[in-house]
Amino acid sequence: MMATYVTIQTDIEKGKINRNIYGHFSEHLGRCIYEGIWVGEDSPIPNTRGIRNDVLAALKQIQVPVLRWPGGCFADEYHWKDGVGPLESRKTMINTHWGGVLENNHFGTHEFLLLCELLACEPYISGNVGSGTVQEMSEWVEYMTFDGVSPMADWRRANGREEPWNVRFFGVGNENWGCGGNMRPEYYADLYRRYQTYVRNYGTNKIHRIACGPNVDDYAWMETLMKEAGRMMDAISLHYYTVPGPSWQDKGSATDFGEEEWFVTLEKTRRMDELIRKHSAIMDQYDPEKRVGLIVDEWGTWHDVEPGSNPGFLYQQNTMRDALVAGIHFHIFHEHCDRVEMANIAQVVNVLQSVILTEGERMLLTPTYHVFDMFKVHQDAALLSTHTESEWYEVNGRKHQMTSVSASKDDAGRIHISLCNVDPHAEAQVSVELRGLYGNDFHIRGSELTSTDMNGHNTFDQPDAVSPREFKAYSREGDVVQLRLAPKSVTMIEIVPA
Ligand code: AHR
Repeated sequence: MMATYVTIQTDIEKGKINRNIYGHFSEHLGRCIYEGIWVGEDSPIPNTRGIRNDVLAALKQIQVPVLRWPGGCFADEYHWKDGVGPLESRKTMINTHWGGVLENNHFGTHEFLLLCELLACEPYISGNVGSGTVQEMSEWVEYMTFDGVSPMADWRRANGREEPWNVRFFGVGNENWGCGGNMRPEYYADLYRRYQTYVRNYGTNKIHRIACGPNVDDYAWMETLMKEAGRMMDAISLHYYTVPGPSWQDKGSATDFGEEEWFVTLEKTRRMDELIRKHSAIMDQYDPEKRVGLIVDEWGTWHDVEPGSNPGFLYQQNTMRDALVAGIHFHIFHEHCDRVEMANIAQVVNVLQSVILTEGERMLLTPTYHVFDMFKVHQDAALLSTHTESEWYEVNGRKHQMTSVSASKDDAGRIHISLCNVDPHAEAQVSVELRGLYGNDFHIRGSELTSTDMNGHNTFDQPDAVSPREFKAYSREGDVVQLRLAPKSVTMIEIVPA
């Protein structure tokens, strides 16, 4: 019988899986911030100081480690001073980039940092290089993080916040090769050097300066940035979206697709590995010590919007296919944990590959959410040396690996093995050899996420159609565990020393 063979060296740790790989991204785009997160204190939807409680509880459950805000393309049009002070006196503007809707600035710096405090996650602020000034960026950092007496710190206190916040992650621009100013890499590299000079460290707050990195495979951008500004940055970003269709004009439906689109989506997902390898090779030339981190601060599926929804709102459904896209991405990020220090799925609620969808007072958790929940055990764990010889999944003469596997060990010595079976029809027979346990006994338990249909998804009327269940299809002979993975499934196995 065909099988996939996995060998896990349980006593060889290859590095640490930074918990920030499980990060998120929130933008003033469509219904992400307004309705998805912020409903205001007077809303009938139960909330904590304006932030909806159901979404808060769901995000706490998956242990969001870091949240990026306010964009995206919105960040390079955002003027933070419009979003502080009494709500009624904040400026109303047009969100020109996303749907031309009114933006009343009710969700600003204080509200975002409150959200991060409630989630116990780290904030990651994207600063405005495209249409903002150096002074504006510099004063934002002073406003948030300066402890002493200064115009900005005093203004923060007058606006109700005595103590400065801790803000470690700060992005100097977003997509400056595109919506952030259409710059050439040489020009942006110079601007980066200038702007970052005034992004100051105040007191104990140490900023991790993040440069805008390349779009997909723009290796020239990476080369120029590393050469001209590498020594002045702590990290550089990378954006890559999985677009199933042949073009941005024809991305394909989130729910109405066949096996060809299924196959292509998962094939395109794996491209993330090639991109990280090639960009890392360039970074290695300028930073062999790997001091500069790679931050994939936008990734995920980008489908056509849901029929009838505002095209500028990027609202899409989320199926078992998206869940597999998430699982495979995490495995790729784990493998590159020596360079990839953070990743932020786009976006947290109601936009692109969201973990949560809302409709008025109703909320649902997507299949992608469940992958974040199942995989949270990998956060900050040690990546274990794993070798996988997978069967092939073939469609129309093209093939890619059927099973993707990653394993980690946490501080308590528990081993977690996550597995994705991308074949929508066939079970994967997987034989996992656990080396290095030296005869120690162990217990096994597991959970799996699967669906009957390739496009299985949750709706507001059937919110639990795709949700994790206990995984029982395993047996054991000594240090070898046999698993039977359901077609199109994501599985998490826990090995607990007895
Ligand atoms: O996530 C949606 C958009 O995609 C972001 O605003 C932008 O940075 C990227 O092009």
